[in-house]
Formats: sequence, structure tokens, C-alpha cells
Amino acid sequence: MNQRFQNVGEWIDSRIGFSDCVWPLLTHIVPRDARWWYVFGSATLTAFIVQVISGVALAMAYVPAGDQAYESLQFITNQAPFGSLLRGMHAYGASAMVALVVIHLMQVYLHATYKYPRELNWMTGVVLFFVVLGMAFTGQLLRWDANGVWSVFVATEMVARTPFIGQSLADFLMGGQTVGGSTLTRFFVYHVFVMPAIIFAGVGLHLFLLMRHGVSEMPDPNRPVDPATYKQEYEARLKKTGVAFWPYAMWRDVVFSTFVIAVIVGCALVFGPPALDHAPDPASIDANPVPDWYFLWYFAVLSLLPPNLEIWFILGVPVLGFLVMFCLPLVSNKGHRAPSKRPWAVGIVIAAVAGFLVLTIYGYLEPWSPDFGVSELPASVVGVDQGPVFEGAKLAHEKGCLFCHTIDGHGGHRGPDLSNIGQQLTRDDLVIRINNGGYNMPAFASSLDTDQLSNIVDFLLTRSDDDAPTGEGG
Ligand code: HEC
Repeated sequence: MNQRFQNVGEWIDSRIGFSDCVWPLLTHIVPRDARWWYVFGSATLTAFIVQVISGVALAMAYVPAGDQAYESLQFITNQAPFGSLLRGMHAYGASAMVALVVIHLMQVYLHATYKYPRELNWMTGVVLFFVVLGMAFTGQLLRWDANGVWSVFVATEMVARTPFIGQSLADFLMGGQTVGGSTLTRFFVYHVFVMPAIIFAGVGLHLFLLMRHGVSEMPDPNRPVDPATYKQEYEARLKKTGVAFWPYAMWRDVVFSTFVIAVIVGCALVFGPPALDHAPDPASIDANPVPDWYFLWYFAVLSLLPPNLEIWFILGVPVLGFLVMFCLPLVSNKGHRAPSKRPWAVGIVIAAVAGFLVLTIYGYLEPWSPDFGVSELPASVVGVDQGPVFEGAKLAHEKGCLFCHTIDGHGGHRGPDLSNIGQQLTRDDLVIRINNGGYNMPAFASSLDTDQLSNIVDFLLTRSDDDAPTGEGG
């Protein structure tokens, strides 16, 4: 019997090549100083595996259709076996993955591991980083509650402002003119097919390159990288002082990854999955929607910038950010690696972390979303105290128009200022805008009756620069 097992084992090994291929990889020699600094990459991969497993399980019960997604999530959370645990793991796993990939990136940047010969390791890593953010962003919409839908509303409105191709790009991303059921289907496809495929391929390449060029050594201030001699010197040092990856270096990865899994599962068990806020309903604006924490800084900046600069920021940050990071090793691939010799690099990391923290805090305190605390328009702004215009002004407050629109300095800033709208739009235009809404403007057709609509329009038509309220009534 034993003999038979051994034969089966040998057969499999001879076909698969564990002892010829995998074992040598596992035990290849790495620098002995590759210590705790190096665990973040493997931990990111571990978090990704948690995401794949929990994600596949969730997809078995999730329905990516506008009218059923929210219900299917409630079913998963409240009834499906392990559903609540799996949703929790997927949510905390996402946070863990974003956090770990950022830490990994910062470590690699601080130690300038992207220099010769590991330029492509870095470049594949940058692509992976952006795809991970894409995963986080699309995942947020799949929750299909007010928060997720709102964030995508804002983001696609931004995309639509790209010169020339903006509208087509936004329509393509959303699968239609506005965020709706087809957006959900499309985001589901990005989230479960397109982006995971890119991540799998990217991770494969990333790891292949890691094996090919070896793990970097800790930076040494006395040993700048010289492409002409680096490889021989690296090999020579490995021969002298290197250790086998498994078990001498890898045990730290195993310990840290186990810790990461424990934290993810622990949070899922203790805190449970993020509460589903109410189902998305464009006409209901009593929520205070916020995007997931890793995107909050971005929305905070958007709410701080004057509208004419927004467009540069919206396009500039992702596109320029990607290009600068991607091309970094092409511009600088030799010289010092030690942080002590690269004060700029240290400064950049500190500035980035500080900026992230400040903006995130600002984002929590000062939501980019509508301002729900606005009070009624004062009589001096309305100008009359009875009649349709007066009723209309009251409705503008009651129906939440002022949450998003400012009139003579009163109201929120989510939508355009309506102080002069009477000069800009005709009665028909106004009726259409209010009934149909827009990217970030709820459609009010179903929540205003004919009289109310006509009163609001009467009121808005009085809003203009030159004829200040006269107080004559009607
Ligand atoms: C949740 C935020 C929000 C609420 C609430 C809201 N709007 Fe808007 N509104 C917007 C945004 C954003 C726009 C910009 C256009 C777009 O997104 O399609 C807009 C556009 C408009 C416009 C066109 C302005 C222009 O310059 O073209 C009018 C008129 C308008 N809203 C009136 C109203 C009225 C009346 C109400 C209340 C019944 C209301 N809005 C409620 C966000 C809102």
C-alpha cells in the first residue's frame, strides 16, 4: 500500500515537476536582510485571495440587476448560511487590500526598489495598484445602496466632463445616459471578470519578475545602484550571505499573512458587514451619503475646488498620477536607494500621507454631499409673503432643492447656483429640468404635483440679477 502511494506521488511529481520547478523556486537564495519590511507584498496577495474566495461565494447569491440587487444583499446578510460573515470578510478584505497595497507601494518607493534591474516590477505594480482601486470603486456600486450609487453618480458626472470624449466615455462606463440598472450590470462585469483577469495576469507577471531579478537588498547608503556592476555584485553577495527563501525568509510572510486573515475574519465577526443603507432612490435625499474611506479625500478636494478647476483636478490626479508613477523608473533607475540620501522621496511620502489624512478628516466633517442643514429662505430673499412665488420658495426648502442649490447665498453647493436662473432658463426648460433631473439632480416628476411644480417654477423665474425682489406680491 505504502509503495503504491509512493508511486502515485512520484507519478504526479514527475508530471507536474514539484521537486524540479516549484521546490527550487521556494528555496531560492534571497538576501538575508529581507526582513519584516518585505511582508506587505505577500500580504496584499493574501488579501486578494481572501477577496477572490469570499467574492465567488457572494456572487453565487448576488443578483446584479437594478431591481433585485438590494434584496439579494439583504438575503445574503440575513438568511444565507455564512452570508453575513462572507460579506463582512469581503468588505474588510477590500479595506485591507487597499491599505496593504498602499503600504507596499510606499515601502518600495522609500527603498527605491524600482531602480535597476527591477523597473518592470514597479511598473506592473503601478498597474496593479490602479486596478485594485478600480475594484474598490466598482465594488462600492454593487452594494447598490444610496452611498454606492451616489459615489458613482458623482464620479461619472466627473468623467463626463473630460473634453471631447467625456460624454461617450461616461455613457460607456455607465452603460447608459445615467446611473441605473444597466450601470449595475456593467460594473458587475468590470468587478468580477475584467479587473480580476487583469489582476491575475498582473500578479503572475509581477511574481515572475520578482523571481527573475531576485528580492532586493535593504538599501545601503554606501552602495548606490550602478547598472554596469549591480548584477554581479548582487549575485556575489547572495552566494556569500544569502539564505533560502523557504523557510528562512518566508516564515515572516506566513506569520504576517495569517495575522491579516485573522484581522479580516475578526472584524467581520465582531463588527459584521457594513450596514446596507436604504435602497437607492434618486428622489430620496435624506441620507448623508459618503464614499468608502479610501476615496473620501478625493471627493473632499472636489468640494473644495472652484468648479472651473475641478476638471483639471479630476482628470489630472488619476491620469497624471498614473503616468508619473508608471514612468518613474524610466527617469531614475540608478544611484542612491537609501532614504537618507533621498530626502525628496521621504518628503513626498510624508506630504502624501499628511494630505490624505487632512483631506479625509475634512471629508468626514464637511461632506461633499448635499447640505441637509439649510434653513428656509429669509423673507428678504423671497421678496413676497403670499401667492405662488411665496409657496414656491417654501417648496424649494421643503422638497430639498436648497440642499443642493444656493439662492442668494442660502443653500448647499452640490448643484449650480440658482440665484439668476430666471434669466437663464425659460419656464419650459425649468419644468423639464425639474421633472427629469440630471446626473446629480434627482427627477422630481413623481414627487411634485402640477401646482407645486408650477409654484416652484414661478418662484425660480423671479430669480435674476437685475430685478431685485420688489415686494409687490404674485
Ligand atoms: C441632490 C442634489 C439636488 C437636489 C435635491 C436638487 N437639485 Fe437641481 N440640480 C442638481 C445638480 C447637480 C444640477 C446640475 C445639472 C445636473 O446634474 O444634471 C441641478 C440642476 C438644476 C437646474 C438646472 C440649472 C442650470 O443651471 O441648468 C434646475 C433649474 C434645478 N436643478 C432645480 C432644482 C429644483 C427646483 C429642485 C427641488 C425641487 C432641485 N433642483 C433639487 C442637484 C440637485
